[in-house]
Amino acid sequence: MVGVKEHFLVTGGARLEGSVSVVGAKNSVLKLMSAALLAEGTTVLHNCPQISDVTYMVKVLEGLGCTARADGERVEITVPEVISPDADIDAVRQFRASVCVLGPLTARCHRAVVALPGGDAIGNRPLDMHQSGLEKMGAATRIEHGCVVAEAEELHGAQINLDFPSVGATENILTAAVLADGTTVLDNAAREPEIVDLCHMLREMGAQIEGEGSSTITVTGVKKLHPVEHRVVGDRIVAGTWAYAAAMTRGDVTVGGIDPAHLHLVLEKLRSAGAGVETYPTGFRVTQERRATAVDYQTLPFPGFPTDLQPMAIALCSVSQGMSVITENIFESRFRFVDEMTRLGADATIDGHHVVVRGREQLSYAPVWSSDIRAGAGLVLAGLCADGVTRVNDVHHIDRGYPGFVEDLCRLGARVERVADE
Ligand code: UD1
Repeated sequence: MVGVKEHFLVTGGARLEGSVSVVGAKNSVLKLMSAALLAEGTTVLHNCPQISDVTYMVKVLEGLGCTARADGERVEITVPEVISPDADIDAVRQFRASVCVLGPLTARCHRAVVALPGGDAIGNRPLDMHQSGLEKMGAATRIEHGCVVAEAEELHGAQINLDFPSVGATENILTAAVLADGTTVLDNAAREPEIVDLCHMLREMGAQIEGEGSSTITVTGVKKLHPVEHRVVGDRIVAGTWAYAAAMTRGDVTVGGIDPAHLHLVLEKLRSAGAGVETYPTGFRVTQERRATAVDYQTLPFPGFPTDLQPMAIALCSVSQGMSVITENIFESRFRFVDEMTRLGADATIDGHHVVVRGREQLSYAPVWSSDIRAGAGLVLAGLCADGVTRVNDVHHIDRGYPGFVEDLCRLGARVERVADE
């Protein structure tokens, strides 16, 4: 319900069993919606998740002069010949991914003004690599009055080496390079499946791109792109969340709508923890017979273990047999979640960017607070292993990333209720 604060009541003890299917990835759809700005005309996206961030992105695109509409799993965006370069609107501040309009606006309008985004409380999220990439292509950039501003009379191809394979910087550089004059070689590029999805859509639009999914992506700019229909890649983080839910509840869950190769390491980790994992062309099944065994984790850029599944990994470790060390290498504030886990009785100690977790047979119910999308989902999973009813507050965070979360959980046999705050 819009405007009403809600919480979830999660009753522990149920074993999750059955099938669930994921739709398109939040971390892809928002970038694809933004890439639509690169071509005049009507772009249609299928398999879109029905989440609040898509609604916010619709508002951002409307603010730029487009007509945009989300109708179920279909999003339609009509881009006029002339769009506004100015995304300094309230909608932009609502969510982090809005910064992905920077590349397309710089390419289309030769100027972009994008309010510095809001988003998750997971750590400091600078834009220095986004800016220096655009600067290498001939843009001047600055931060001014709470906005990032990019200006370029003409964008040209460049050799760009990222210090770190940043997902967002890779996306903004690619979406600027597709209309630049000449060839851009991006080294140490992010390799996430959502980057590959973006490159596929850009290529369908007429862009010349090679090397997506590897660390070096080469883009030769073209004069004009055309609108397309595109199906969004399945959400590996939502799929991974279901895999962990199965392992935590000693359940048996089949997940569809996802290429299991996108979760290769995640599924390997679950195997190491004692789960049975079967993979299919568009899904996988996780079964867990006995209490999981402790496993160590390190978050890393793809194909490493995703930082977005770190809370789920900690939740599983907190009920596993033995001691685990989880190392967070991407976002420094992500361990805020650990304090909430401690409230649920988890034995977890933070030491810098490591957390040491000693598994317990059972967690103890308590009121807890979501601080970001993934932390919220991790707390719900932990609540499934508690000895009573856990109240998970601030669930609007979870709603930003998990379409139909409660419905899917209940279909699998969990006891979870959505309740308006009193
Ligand atoms: C995206 C995902 C997020 C995921 C993350 C890492 C979206 C909307 N969000 O975020 O869910 O957790 O990838 O897989 O797709 N950095 C800099 N300077 C920059 C850019 C990034 O220092 O210019 C740092 C960040 O602070 C962070 C690290 O690089 O420590 C990774 O950030 P990045 O890969 O850019 O993540 P996002 O694109 O913000």
